[in-house]
Amino acid sequence: MAKLLQINSSLFGENGNSTTLANEFVQRWKAVNPTGEVTVRDFAKEEVPHLDAARVQALFSPAEGRTAEQQAVLDYSDNIIAEIQAADAIVIGVPLYNFGVPSTLKAYFDHIARAGVTFKYTETGPVGLLNDKPVYVIATRGGVHKGQPSDTQSQFLKNFLGFVGLKDVHIIYAEGLNMGQKDQAFAAAKTEIAQEIAA
Ligand SMILES: Cc1cc2nc3c(=O)[nH]c(=O)nc-3n(C[C@H](O)[C@H](O)[C@H](O)COP(=O)(O)O)c2cc1C
Repeated sequence: MAKLLQINSSLFGENGNSTTLANEFVQRWKAVNPTGEVTVRDFAKEEVPHLDAARVQALFSPAEGRTAEQQAVLDYSDNIIAEIQAADAIVIGVPLYNFGVPSTLKAYFDHIARAGVTFKYTETGPVGLLNDKPVYVIATRGGVHKGQPSDTQSQFLKNFLGFVGLKDVHIIYAEGLNMGQKDQAFAAAKTEIAQEIAA
């Protein structure tokens, strides 16, 4: 059975532009994978803990002597990594907030980057350990940034996902959403989503 992991990082939950377009992706994916299973992580609905010293120490803690609190930190990280590993494809709704990804998505990423689990260093450089699979990023922006110096978000996403082994990243943009271009941007993004699903 095909598995899709949907990650929504808009502050606005189901009302977010990125969530709306990610939902469009999921509907189209379901149409071609009628028996497929979708797992949803929505950071407007669930708290994503930020890393602090105790959490980092927990992630490195040896099994022997590990406290219950440290085990809970590891369990959270292990679970989200297992969800990614189990998925055949991933769709991530990613708004541009203050020139970056939502802090919740960054916090989620911070719990995924684990030496020896999702990446390792070799003599020739870092190697990602996650099984590669397509990652569809739905990038929504109030302004227009694609291909410009102001768009450090796209490269960050490719850098991070590639670092842990997810190199097949497809970014679908809906830009100018606060510039009176929402209808056109949504229509273009929906066409691109349909093309990606059909590909
Ligand atoms: C807190 C906040 C920060 C934002 N920062 C930017 C920005 O730096 N550049 C930009 O083009 N749009 C910015 N926007 C506009 C959003 O990118 C735009 O509204 C987008 O559709 C949000 O996606 P969402 O509805 O899925 O949350 C910002 C919006 C918010 C709420």
